[in-house]
Amino acid sequence: MFAEQYGPWALIAGGSEGIGAGFARKIAAHGVNVMLIARKPQPLEEVAQQIRQTAGVQVRTASIDLSTPDLTERVRAAAGDIEIGMVVYNAGAESKMVPFLDRPLDELMRVIGVNVTGLTMLLHELGAKMRARRRGGIIVVGSMAGFAGGSRMAVYTAGKAYEQMLTETLWWELRPHGIDVLMLIAGTTRTPAMARMGIKLEGTGQPVMEPDEVAQEGLDNLKNGPTWVAGAHNREAAKFMCTADRRAAVEMVSSGADSMG
Ligand SMILES: NC(=O)c1ccc[n+]([C@@H]2O[C@H](COP(=O)([O-])OP(=O)(O)OC[C@H]3O[C@@H](n4cnc5c(N)ncnc54)[C@H](OP(=O)(O)O)[C@@H]3O)[C@@H](O)[C@H]2O)c1
Repeated sequence: MFAEQYGPWALIAGGSEGIGAGFARKIAAHGVNVMLIARKPQPLEEVAQQIRQTAGVQVRTASIDLSTPDLTERVRAAAGDIEIGMVVYNAGAESKMVPFLDRPLDELMRVIGVNVTGLTMLLHELGAKMRARRRGGIIVVGSMAGFAGGSRMAVYTAGKAYEQMLTETLWWELRPHGIDVLMLIAGTTRTPAMARMGIKLEGTGQPVMEPDEVAQEGLDNLKNGPTWVAGAHNREAAKFMCTADRRAAVEMVSSGADSMG
């Protein structure tokens, strides 16, 4: 059933580690072939090899930077004629937390390149093919940070808000065409990217989720769009962050971000 609606191939953008690798393994376990995109070839190949051995599906890897302006052409070339029935757009974390004006503009533009431009290009290209087939699934991984502006992550929070609005709109527009669309909001999750950033996960009083838990909630709630917040504690926090009292929301996100280093 899963493979019929979302197969024969799923593309996972940012599929070489953390939440994205969790999605790749879980989708492959349903018998769907996976195409993994990330920048570094070696981690991509390692995940691919593991999935080939355990799930017995076909795995294709493509080393592509999602912020590249020729993303559509690069993905077309890498995908060839495979039929992509599912897209998980996972990549999009920040690599550092710096006040807006202290960050070089080109770095900020790369964050926009992944979370805004790259996402838009990929969903425009692959969404059209799904609509023509009248079936498919789309999951975009967002962040609690998209609910309010927050200290030292201005462009990240703005990009995550963009992702959410785009995805929620597609949920509505593509539903009549048999396509399930979900904005999956993640909270603090123990991923390699967080470790590279040197983010303090313990001792902040904030619960931490494991990448596989987040991915599983995404798959379990693919039909519960437009938006699903992973983790009961995050769903509670989201109620406060979505308040019309914007000062309270920004203070809440900013003090949480500052406590993480
Ligand atoms: N971890 C958390 O606590 C947390 C909290 C809230 C929301 N989220 C969201 O969860 C998602 C995953 O986050 P994450 O912490 O695992 O880190 P991430 O850097 O967003 O994702 C890691 C994966 O994406 C790939 N990737 C990163 N930048 C890329 C680019 N420009 N082009 C192609 N691939 C790229 C990485 O491989 P390469 O480095 O080799 O490219 C890796 O496969 C993000 O959307 C993030 O906003 C995470």
